Amino acid sequence: MARPVKPKTPRGAVASGWHRAVYKHGQSLVKKPFDYYTARFLAMNIRLPMSIRALKRYGVKDMNLAEWNHYQRYFKHLPANMRPYFARLTRLAYTTRGKKKRSWLYVEPVLNANGELSQTMADHVKQHGRIHDPAFWDRFSSMVKWMLQQKIPFFDFNAHNIVVQRHIPRKWVPVMVDYKSASLRPYWVHVWLRNPKIRAQRMIRLANRTIRVMGGAHYCLKLSKNAENERPR
Ligand SMILES: Nc1ncnc2c1ncn2[C@@H]1O[C@H](COP(=O)(O)OP(=O)(O)OP(=O)(O)O)[C@@H](O)[C@H]1O
Ligand SMILES: [Mg+2]
Repeated sequence: MARPVKPKTPRGAVASGWHRAVYKHGQSLVKKPFDYYTARFLAMNIRLPMSIRALKRYGVKDMNLAEWNHYQRYFKHLPANMRPYFARLTRLAYTTRGKKKRSWLYVEPVLNANGELSQTMADHVKQHGRIHDPAFWDRFSSMVKWMLQQKIPFFDFNAHNIVVQRHIPRKWVPVMVDYKSASLRPYWVHVWLRNPKIRAQRMIRLANRTIRVMGGAHYCLKLSKNAENERPR
């Protein structure tokens, strides 16, 4: 099986994931997709244009466009109690260098009280240890419950897509920063996920896994099987 290779964070970028690097641009952050996606297969590195991967997974050649579309559809008009939990996307722009057209996705940076960029949950836990603050997991659970209520197809609760915003004193807030997978498209083979009940169960399972790994077993199952009918606080 081909295994994806994690790209290094390019020089000048403040953060990066498997598909995009994030740069500071004035007061904003800008997400720029890498040109290539690399997978390792039979001891060889195979490079595919990122547009092919985006087309396969998100149905458009551009991941930034996919994320922008999902944001407009589900996250643009948030109720006031959910606003702190979702980073705001502000603009999708295109630049051309040579013949290539590139997209830049502008996003509001999530900042701690001291003005530093918030760390991902994974980095936070690596540096400070597991998060044992029940209030943090209550906030996380209410964010997931709202997504369940809205029937947003989202399974990517991994600890690199959620940052921990540190307010003073010791108030930590989970903030979602990656919406590109808010779609059933990457899971088109999993036809059973078209059933909302099965989809909700999977979302709950994945969210609980994040709670268990990043918090500890005793915070697990804050989300009940009926979470989609519960009102988020
Ligand atoms: N609004 C934001 N505020 C602070 N940091 C951010 C923000 N948006 C993104 N980041 C940082 O940039 C990193 C990469 O962003 P993102 O998850 O969108 O990239 P990606 O390559 O599409 O991710 P993936 O690896 O999940 O495919 C995040 O893990 C996070 O550290
Ligand atoms: Mg991500």
